[in-house]
Amino acid sequence: MRVRKAVIPAAGLGTRFLPATKALPKEMIPIVDKPAIQYIVEEIVASGIEDILIITGRGKRAIEDHFDKSFELNQVLKERERTAMLETLENIEKMADIHYLRQKEALGTGHAILKAKYHIGNEPFAVLFGDDLVVSEEPCLAQLMKLYDKYSASILAVQRVPLQEVSEYGVVKGKPINEVHLVEDLVEKPKPEEAPSNLALLGRYILEPDIFDVLERTPYSERGELELTDAIKRMSKDKVVYAYEISGRWYTVGDRLSYLKTTVEFALMREELRGPFWEYLRELTDGGKDVEP
Ligand code: UTP
Repeated sequence: MRVRKAVIPAAGLGTRFLPATKALPKEMIPIVDKPAIQYIVEEIVASGIEDILIITGRGKRAIEDHFDKSFELNQVLKERERTAMLETLENIEKMADIHYLRQKEALGTGHAILKAKYHIGNEPFAVLFGDDLVVSEEPCLAQLMKLYDKYSASILAVQRVPLQEVSEYGVVKGKPINEVHLVEDLVEKPKPEEAPSNLALLGRYILEPDIFDVLERTPYSERGELELTDAIKRMSKDKVVYAYEISGRWYTVGDRLSYLKTTVEFALMREELRGPFWEYLRELTDGGKDVEP
């Protein structure tokens, strides 16, 4: 069966980015001039999926407004003949068929995904976390979908990280088979010396609908959250789950340092900004600007 639906859980509290995320959804924080979640919606659309469900929560209305039509703004742009920007906004409105469901309490990524159960029904679906971006020639999700077509099993996107950083991620223990790894276990934030590998999960999944039953049976973690990785780990005990090392550059935007790095690199990828911004960075690092490190 083809993957036709995608879910973006975007109801988290974003505590690592407070106070910015007190009233602004973390997923709406701009990377250059686009909110993070728009890059994700663009990736989904570029992968050929048009049915997108975003799990939102209190204080997340800006996400719905962003993908909605803004009559007043469009009118002003029309009057001022800002045609290119008008087109940009109209493209955002038309981007996809976006549905919204609310997670009343931020009780974890698994709890958020469980909200999607009736929307998804009995078919495989994609999950993309609202704070992980991937820049790649072939969209990351399309890479996973290709493998799903081949294997018809749940697939987790992974990338290798330096061993000393594994304690920040969910890590896969797997057995290499062809171009994938058969998942034997998932270990949440292991110490480097105890890590089964340096294959880190990066917030992109294709899941079989069985995950909903597994989520319903998965206990809440010590933090009081229902974690998606706990459920996938359980599922991998009696069903085939693969991990795939996606190609592309992975960016996280959920904490301050990663966000800054992502913003700088995305700015340098923009044709119109690259030259002057690079010049500015060079002056800054050469000590030409009056900024103390
Ligand atoms: P994170 O764990 O990175 O987000 O969840 P968080 O909980 O908002 O962040 P911190 O740790 O407090 O800073 C990954 C994705 O899952 C969503 C988040 O919005 C993010 O896109 N999420 C998380 C939910 O939808 N619901 C939740 O209960 C938790």
